[in-house]
Amino acid sequence: MSLPNKVRLVEVGPRDGLQNEAQPISVADKVRLVDDLTAAGLSYIEVGSFVSPKWVPQMGGSAEVFAQIQRKPGVTYGALAPNLRGFEDALAAGVREIAVFAAASESFSQRNINCSISESLERFVPIMEQAREHGVSVRGYVSCVLGCPYEGQIKPEQVAVVARELHQMGCYEVSLGDTIGTGTAGATRKMFDVVAAHVPRAQLAGHFHDTYGQAVANIYASLLEGIAVFDSSIAGLGGCPYAKGASGNVSTEDVLYMLQGLGIETGIDMELLIAAGQRISAVLGRPSGSRVARARSAQ
Ligand code: HMG
Ligand code: MG
Repeated sequence: MSLPNKVRLVEVGPRDGLQNEAQPISVADKVRLVDDLTAAGLSYIEVGSFVSPKWVPQMGGSAEVFAQIQRKPGVTYGALAPNLRGFEDALAAGVREIAVFAAASESFSQRNINCSISESLERFVPIMEQAREHGVSVRGYVSCVLGCPYEGQIKPEQVAVVARELHQMGCYEVSLGDTIGTGTAGATRKMFDVVAAHVPRAQLAGHFHDTYGQAVANIYASLLEGIAVFDSSIAGLGGCPYAKGASGNVSTEDVLYMLQGLGIETGIDMELLIAAGQRISAVLGRPSGSRVARARSAQ
């Protein structure tokens, strides 16, 4: 399979990145981050989550963030919604695209959203109905596709079952998440090969946390499997509150660097992207998690 000419990066830093931060981050800083990412040319930015603030306090101000960002036409500003309440709050905040999230592991599903995999899928049915009624697009996530913090190995067939359900209920794209970043290039290829028998490759995305330093290699492996949409996080922000020790998503800057080297188009400006990452890293008071950004700033 030849490599795609174009790749779409889904920027998840403001959500997947910041959700894991214990220190308070102001609405103004979140808005600035989203606006910086818009300016850098990202076409999809996951801005926040409409989840219980008792579970993920940092995402509590998502409606205010949505109210203040500068929306650029053609850019999608998405949010997570775990249940109908989350969907309704998102809709009221002017969100036009949401993401529902399930897991390939029962234990992770319980810890993350307090229900079984099948209960979570049932919970999504009324969300899908409401979304259709209101013309809201829905993306789906499957967590723990290459390993679970509680159960260890996860079979690709388990991932395929959940991905197929999400696709059949109307998710236009299903993002497969290596939540704990233990996946390897070989396991990634096998997993996509198995899942692609149930969901078309053009409707699959990869979401790689970089805990074991394998994420860029796993994205290259996914490109070889015909996958052309990847989630990434500015400055490598983040982790998952329900996957202890998991580090952030692969950094957007590092993925962009690889894609540029392959001559693959993304529409993203590297300099503006690095500047966005430096600014939020300064707010958080730590060095950027992007190797590319660190190398550039050392020059
Ligand atoms: P629950 O406790 O079972 O729910 O949580 P509940 O219905 O019993 O409600 C409990 C309380 O939460 C109630 O308030 C509800 O009103 C409130 P109380 O009566 O106690 O005052 N509540 C809400 N508040 C605001 N927004 C809502 C909402 N729903 C209920 N939408 C629930 C179930 C799903 C709500 C909870 O478990 C939850 O919010 N979980 C979110 C977890 C989360 O956000 N995890 C991180 C995102 S997933 C991720 O990072 C993985 C991903 O990146 C891919 C990968 O890396 O693998 C996507
Ligand atoms: Mg994630």
